[in-house]
Amino acid sequence: MSKTNTSMEKIVSLAKRKGFVYPGSEIYGGFANSYTYGPYGVQLKNNIKNLWWHWFVEKRADMVGIDGTILLHPKTWKASGHVDTFNDPMVDCKDCQARHRADHLVEDKYEGNVDGLSLAELDEKITDFGVKCPKCGGTNFTKARQFNLMFQTQMAKTGEESIAYMRPETAQAIFLEFKNVVDSTRVKVPFGIGQIGKAFRNEITPGNFIFRVLEFEQMEIEYFVHPEEWKEHFESWVQAMYEWCELIGLDKKKIHELEVEGDALAHYSDRTVDFEYEFPFGVKELYGCAYRTDFDLGNHQRESGKTLEYRDPQTNEKYLPHVIEPTFGVDRTVLAVLSEAYEDETLDDGSVRTVLHFKPALAPVKIAVLPLMKKDGLPEKAQEILRKVQVFGNCEYDQTGAIGKRYRRQDEVGTPVCITVDYDTLEDDTVTVRDRDTMEQKRMLIGELLNYLSDNYFVY
Ligand code: GAP
Repeated sequence: MSKTNTSMEKIVSLAKRKGFVYPGSEIYGGFANSYTYGPYGVQLKNNIKNLWWHWFVEKRADMVGIDGTILLHPKTWKASGHVDTFNDPMVDCKDCQARHRADHLVEDKYEGNVDGLSLAELDEKITDFGVKCPKCGGTNFTKARQFNLMFQTQMAKTGEESIAYMRPETAQAIFLEFKNVVDSTRVKVPFGIGQIGKAFRNEITPGNFIFRVLEFEQMEIEYFVHPEEWKEHFESWVQAMYEWCELIGLDKKKIHELEVEGDALAHYSDRTVDFEYEFPFGVKELYGCAYRTDFDLGNHQRESGKTLEYRDPQTNEKYLPHVIEPTFGVDRTVLAVLSEAYEDETLDDGSVRTVLHFKPALAPVKIAVLPLMKKDGLPEKAQEILRKVQVFGNCEYDQTGAIGKRYRRQDEVGTPVCITVDYDTLEDDTVTVRDRDTMEQKRMLIGELLNYLSDNYFVY
């Protein structure tokens, strides 16, 4: 058996064909860079979010969770620095009106770090390198200018007060609720608050399928520590992020740690380590771990006039905790998991099967129950078994087509186990259990199924 390289086209095509991800608003001709998660996609995405929540929030004594709003008080974004500094440099092509990230236009040709270039330097490099518009090939660009990535919306109020921002990161709701969480729960520093939710960015050059979109989801942790202890917590969160990558089945060899330097650091960060992943279109940022110091709590304290200091119950020391922020994009996780799982496997007989090797915890369908024939009491027996194995999550029943074809259908959506019900089942209460990855089949008693499945597949 051999494995071929996975291309982005194959993933996008499978995603559409099998109902993982559809292009958004397709019946109206599409709405650029928006995507709908289909029936299998939403299962996969929910499994990722549920596993993350279980792993980082429920299983840890030093973590709690919140669910904040997308629209926060507009002063939040002034205090957080997003109104003034959450910008990307943009140029327009005067010939075809396409908009581009100025830094992206020069990054392939410039040997230094493009994040450190001023607007004037970007203009100079665009001219010196003879950069062509990626859309029309022209060289007639406007001057580079800063473009704020926050989406604005109108509230039913007048004047300045009417503007609200769609949050560009989930993190800020956590900072706003820091005091409430400390006052209403028994957490003590060091502790963290986790949150999963939508974020919105008016990206100048979105693309690469669900990698860079305007509306996406984040799973974020703000971990509050004593200022003198940030280094050890930072290291331990970097390790915890590697463990998560392993848990969801990403190959460690495809993950590259990038120490973000100088001007490339976000405005709130004193240190950031990016987790880059070998996506089919190149090595790009998957996750990040940032040391946000007391930047956010300090700014919100100043802007709101409310003290956000923490008092250590043992020493009575009062201080603003510092923050370590491990951040995980949900959509990029879906894309990485799909890329890692995808295989066009050439079998010994020369045929090719497409298979998604999802970790069982992430698989959209856990188990498929397949009666060999749709008569003679086999469907009823299979339905009985289906009801039993549904304790493991979303399961499917399929009685249509040749059994080999039904196995292939399940392989393509990454179902770890198929259970086949045949005439012997009616005689001796045994079934065939087929493993997706090895394609090996085992005969076993229905009474042994639940233990076998939980011991071998659905444990984490
Ligand atoms: N709170 C910190 C923060 O938002 P970030 O690096 O800007 O940091 C965090 O974003 C993560 O969100 C990224 O590592 C990535 O996984 C995801 N992300 C950011 N922008 C995205 C976009 N336009 N589309 C999809 N995912 C995105």
